[in-house]
Amino acid sequence: MVTIIRKDAALVARLRKGLLDWYDAHGRDLVWRRGERDPYRVWLSEVMLQQTTVPHATPYYEKFLSLWPTVRDLAAADDARVMAAWAGLGYYARARRLLECARVVVRDHDGDFPRSEAELLALPGFGPYTAAAVAAIAFGEAANVVDGNVERVMTRLYAIETPLPAGRGEVRDAAAQWIDAERAGDWPQALMDLANLICRPKAPQCLLCPLAEACEARAQGEPERYPVKLVKAPKPRRFGTAYILRLGGAVIAEQRPDKGLLGGMLGLPHSEWRETPEESRPPFDGDCRDLGAYQHVFTHFALTQSVRLRDVTRAEADALLRTRNNWRWLPLAEARSLPTVFAKALKLIKP
Ligand code: ADE
Repeated sequence: MVTIIRKDAALVARLRKGLLDWYDAHGRDLVWRRGERDPYRVWLSEVMLQQTTVPHATPYYEKFLSLWPTVRDLAAADDARVMAAWAGLGYYARARRLLECARVVVRDHDGDFPRSEAELLALPGFGPYTAAAVAAIAFGEAANVVDGNVERVMTRLYAIETPLPAGRGEVRDAAAQWIDAERAGDWPQALMDLANLICRPKAPQCLLCPLAEACEARAQGEPERYPVKLVKAPKPRRFGTAYILRLGGAVIAEQRPDKGLLGGMLGLPHSEWRETPEESRPPFDGDCRDLGAYQHVFTHFALTQSVRLRDVTRAEADALLRTRNNWRWLPLAEARSLPTVFAKALKLIKP
């Protein structure tokens, strides 16, 4: 590993205070920052905020808290309701681990989250980021909280040339020099706000940055070059067809198997997602109407999905549902909050 050149301790102390002052004045007013620091709320927000943006996660956070205000409520919740409330946030394995974790906290810790980073790390679904974030924000532990925002700020401050993810060790090392033991929970959040409001991926506002004086990327005049990225291989593409079987204001939804992609979620019936765009045979008899196609990008592949619609009669619908125990009716209004890959199909229905 390349060794990080440490910055002068007095400079770090002065700029750290400068950033915290900036955070007090300009930090974002986010719902999970209001009121008491409740470990359950901190955990819920941090899990939701992984891989999604603040505006996208906020209504989900509010919905979860209104349905399940405490970790005990969540632990006692019906699995299918939790999965349905998560639909649209993506990375559905996270929702399953969220429930598993809530149940472990209630069963093994009497409903109280353990307070240290090391103990938190042992809970289901807790990785290094979540453990550090909850330890710092909920319990004030001086943990090293490193997410994509902190990575951007640190790679710029130290002009780290190693592309991510290989450069993560250097980033952690750099971030460790800046932790504020007194305001352990505010410090990472101040960095995140800096990363979103000033040290943005494109067009960073270096003139407004409280850390500019120590920033090597700025001194080089090329802050946007960091974090250095590896050129990615394009994702493999797959092809499939989703079927909308409609009767009045409802469509047939399919309960997906617990294991695998979108496991345990409701979806639309669809053909196998294959590497070649061959025509698929619908899983029912009769003609359907072509509604076009759309693109959806998963973590490991990109999907081109065609959409076909059939308006079924009541008799046909009853016969279909008798042959499949994982199909059921779902009102169209509810179907619109299916996981995004299926919600996109419904958007192709013309009014
Ligand atoms: N992204 C992840 N955690 C966050 C937090 N606590 N505040 C703002 N953005 C975040």
